[in-house]
Amino acid sequence: MAAGKNILLIISGGIAAYKVLEVIRRLRDREINIRAILTKGGEQFVTPLSVAALTENKVYQDLFSLTDEAEMGHIRLSREADLVLVAPASADILAKMATGQAGDLATTALLATNKPVMIAPAMNVEMWNHPATQANIATLESRGVIRVGPSAGDLACGETGSGRLAEPAEIIANVLDFLDGQSAPKPLAGKKAVVTSGPTHEPIDPVRYIANRSSGKQGHAIAQALCNAGADVTLVSGPVSLPDPAGVKVVRIETAREMLAAVKNALPADIAICAAAVADWRTADEAGQKLKKDGSGVIPDLRLSENPDILATISKAGASRPGLVIGFAAETEKVTEHARAKRARKGCDWILANDVAPETGTFGGDQNEIFLISGDDATTDEHWSRQSKTGIAEVLCARIIRHFS
Ligand code: C5P
Repeated sequence: MAAGKNILLIISGGIAAYKVLEVIRRLRDREINIRAILTKGGEQFVTPLSVAALTENKVYQDLFSLTDEAEMGHIRLSREADLVLVAPASADILAKMATGQAGDLATTALLATNKPVMIAPAMNVEMWNHPATQANIATLESRGVIRVGPSAGDLACGETGSGRLAEPAEIIANVLDFLDGQSAPKPLAGKKAVVTSGPTHEPIDPVRYIANRSSGKQGHAIAQALCNAGADVTLVSGPVSLPDPAGVKVVRIETAREMLAAVKNALPADIAICAAAVADWRTADEAGQKLKKDGSGVIPDLRLSENPDILATISKAGASRPGLVIGFAAETEKVTEHARAKRARKGCDWILANDVAPETGTFGGDQNEIFLISGDDATTDEHWSRQSKTGIAEVLCARIIRHFS
């Protein structure tokens, strides 16, 4: 239930600030308490009086105001909220958040808070697309900041493109979802999970390695979904260019052997999900120095040796075997048939099989389609239709919750 929850709303400078008045009204209708901070920029677009009237609370503007500090210090202001919402979030305040500046009341509260932060960016399209802003957004998201919008369309500056503040209805829906989610029971609370994700890199020499095109998107999404459901999640990840899932313990490794050691280290666990595309082979004799092309025309032989199979190892780990072990099967033909054989061979409980034929775009892409194989015959097979990898992660999480209940 969102009613009775507290939001600290930070209104920064932007023509779209007027739309936030509507957000305040609708949230107040739902009996959500709002305290607002208006930045110097924000003051240019909405008046403190209108914000105070709609929030039915004092509006905070000045870091060094003695009355503000006497009534409610900035630390308390930032800590008593269930959610800090920055709307509109200008390019300037995003840059200050990303770099940890605290030159005014809004940025000080944002640096001092230990509560979840949601941003609704709004700015000119070029400012939004600028690599500096995009890098700031990536930094903030990697720290768990939740982003709503911006949307694309006509902008107040006369240009067209991304940068419009998300519509009030969208901001409100996200806030309510978040607050409802916070009060919802966490079905996987008390459960420990270990998830592998991404490729492994197997060194040939100090500068070269064997790798594959796995993006880590599916494994990372699974780790996030399990964590959102209350599980204590360790994500063992190969080299990927994805932000860490919020609230998840991330262990970074490069090779298959390091991945196995990290997974063993994370045991005992209730759930193990091996989504990583582990290299089956490594070089048998990794060179200590860079291999040189010496002009003789002699091409070095790359001899390979087999990597440990992490899924099979933990499936057969005896007393420390997790109660539910799940693997993936990436197949290009006879998907369910090959996956069923793999389930038996590896000794895991479930296999999530997907078709990775090049024309499906699954490997490295954003979408996935799954067959869940959980038994020796096809009667228990399930089909999860093509959808985002985040969607698949949520379906899997719901299935795991059902399994444990
Ligand atoms: O044998 P194959 O690579 O097709 O099996 C895929 C499944 O096994 C995936 O769940 C993958 O994470 C896991 N695996 C593993 N260690 C390996 C190879 C695969 O955990 N060395």
